[in-house]
Amino acid sequence: MKEYKIVVLGNGGVGKSALTLQFVQGVFTPHYDATIEDSYRKLSKIEAENARLEILDTAGTEQFSGMRETYYKSAHGFILVFSLEDKSTFEDLKLTYENIARIRGKDVPLILVGNKSDLIGTRQIDQQFVEDHARTLNIPYFETSAKLNQNVAQIFEECAILILKR
Ligand code: GTP
Ligand code: MG
Repeated sequence: MKEYKIVVLGNGGVGKSALTLQFVQGVFTPHYDATIEDSYRKLSKIEAENARLEILDTAGTEQFSGMRETYYKSAHGFILVFSLEDKSTFEDLKLTYENIARIRGKDVPLILVGNKSDLIGTRQIDQQFVEDHARTLNIPYFETSAKLNQNVAQIFEECAILILKR
């Protein structure tokens, strides 16, 4: 069976764990518990073929960030998550992207995700703005809600498809 190693990156609190747990276990918790590192496996079908997704849910918190270079080298694909209600989490991904592109090249399988789309009142980032930005870099962009399970499976499956087509 084909294996897809996907690493989920982004600042603390943007919803990396919530997205991963919603996809793998179908649950959402409003409780925040900062991750050190967790890995999950999920069997899935990618382009009609049985597949095993290995998902690494990483630490956004800086004090736990020592493993990042290792992830950059070993992952097949990357999901870069920011929070739609915090512009700085989007800005911070630019450096993450540059580091990945430097190590892996610009056509590495990578998806950009704006999470917490359900929080309409506190939204700080315009959808069109990010879409334009993502298009210039040729990166697929999705807006998700881990809470409402919107677009969640899509980001993991789309990342796997990019890996497969590479
Ligand atoms: P670290 O592990 O510290 O890097 O954080 P994280 O990116 O894993 O964030 P986590 O998934 O723990 O979510 C942080 C907080 O945001 C939690 O209280 C979640 O319940 C909440 N949250 C995550 N996703 C969503 C979402 O789509 N909508 C809403 N309303 N809240 C969310
Ligand atoms: Mg987490």
